[in-house]
Amino acid sequence: MNFWLILRIIFLIFLIILGSFFFIVFVILRIIRRYYKFPIPGFMTRLIDNPIRRRFIQKPNRIAERMRLEPGMIVVEIGPGKGSYTKAVAEKVLPNGKVYAIDIQESVINRLKRRIKKEDISNIVPKIDDAFNLSFENKSVDRIFAIACLPEIPDPVKALKEFHRILKPSGIISLSELFPDPDYPRRKTEKKWAEIAGFELDEEFGNWFVYQLNFKKKLIH
Ligand SMILES: C[S@@+](CC[C@H](N)C(=O)[O-])C[C@H]1O[C@@H](n2cnc3c(N)ncnc32)[C@H](O)[C@@H]1O
Repeated sequence: MNFWLILRIIFLIFLIILGSFFFIVFVILRIIRRYYKFPIPGFMTRLIDNPIRRRFIQKPNRIAERMRLEPGMIVVEIGPGKGSYTKAVAEKVLPNGKVYAIDIQESVINRLKRRIKKEDISNIVPKIDDAFNLSFENKSVDRIFAIACLPEIPDPVKALKEFHRILKPSGIISLSELFPDPDYPRRKTEKKWAEIAGFELDEEFGNWFVYQLNFKKKLIH
């Protein structure tokens, strides 16, 4: 056997071991998350909001474009993380529109406050709030969106019912998920949650690996 062939075989074995390692970690994490839900630590939100994801997988601008945003709209984001999606949406509701970025963790909100101050963004309002009990009036919001967040919440249907309460009759909620997330639900699972909470599918985008679902309020509810 020549040297290059041996090197190729070693590289292939290395890839198989690495792939198996990540697969096993992913399966273990999925099993843990199935029975034990908690908000991911603030520093992890920085890791998942990385250039590869923003450039190739879940592009902030594309996510925002699919939400049919208009200037002046009031938008609520649940679980903004580092704020890349918040920023893309905030740009599309200018002038006069606002994005309320809601998170249950103080560390996430404080970091977002520092970012918007540094980047001088005037229409993002970071706020500590709980998806189960949002501090907004009934039917007061045009759009609600959550990226890789809803399945992390222990009772997604209860949270969706709260979104239903604050959403205007003409409003849309937009949910996006990606496969490497250990909490990733299949599309049909998320559609079922939304339907139980009083929504119907409006539009859907993406593939099995990364998708975005828009829902509107069911007419009779
Ligand atoms: C996985 S991160 C997603 C961050 C960001 N959307 C992204 O895609 O990069 C989920 C966020 O949801 C927040 N979260 C979890 N449960 C929540 C709840 N009940 N109410 C509000 N935020 C919550 C977590 O604190 C966390 O910051």
